[in-house]
Amino acid sequence: MDIRFAIITCSDTRGIAQDEAGAALAGLIGEAGWELLDHVVVTDDAPAISAAIVRAVDELGADVVLTCGGTGLSPRDVTPEATAAVCPRDVPGIAEAMRAYSMTKTRRAMLSRARVMQRGRALVINLPGSTKAARENWDAVADQLEHAVKMAQGGGH
Ligand code: MTE
Repeated sequence: MDIRFAIITCSDTRGIAQDEAGAALAGLIGEAGWELLDHVVVTDDAPAISAAIVRAVDELGADVVLTCGGTGLSPRDVTPEATAAVCPRDVPGIAEAMRAYSMTKTRRAMLSRARVMQRGRALVINLPGSTKAARENWDAVADQLEHAVKMAQGGGH
C-alpha cells in the first residue's frame, strides 16, 4: 500500500539544511517504500504549524503528516496545541504507544506532550525533534501505520 507523507519540522533554529531529524524520517519513509510529498521547516509558532498541517492534508493530500519537534515543556513548544487547533479527533493509543516504547529508551520520554490526531482522513503524528528521538518514536508505530491509514480512510479490518 502506498502511503503519502508530509514532514513538518517545527524549529526556531533549524532550516531545511540543518534538519537532520527530518532527513532521517524522510529516509525511513523511503526505506518502507512509502512516498514523501513534502518536507518543510516552520518556526515554533502555532499559527504557522497549524497552517502547514492544513496545507499538507487539504492541498497536498497527505495520508500521514509527521511533525517533528516542539512537543516538550518549554514555552516555545506549541506543536501539540497547533495540531489540536486543526485536527478534531484524538487518537490517544498511538501517542501512548510511542511514549510507552520511548520510556524503555529514556525516562525523559515522559516529557513529550506529543499527540496523534485525525484531520479528515489523515493522521497527524507529533514526533520529538532530536534525530534519535524521532527515529525511536517512528520505530514504535511504523508497523501499524498501514492498517491505521486504511481504517482512517474507511476500510474495515
Ligand atoms: N523519546 C525517545 N524515544 N527518545 C528520546 O530521546 N527525548 C525526550 C522525549 N521523547 C526522547 C523521547 C525529550 S528529552 C523531550 S524534551 C521530549 O521528547 C520532547 O522533545 P521535543 O521538544 O524535541 O519535541
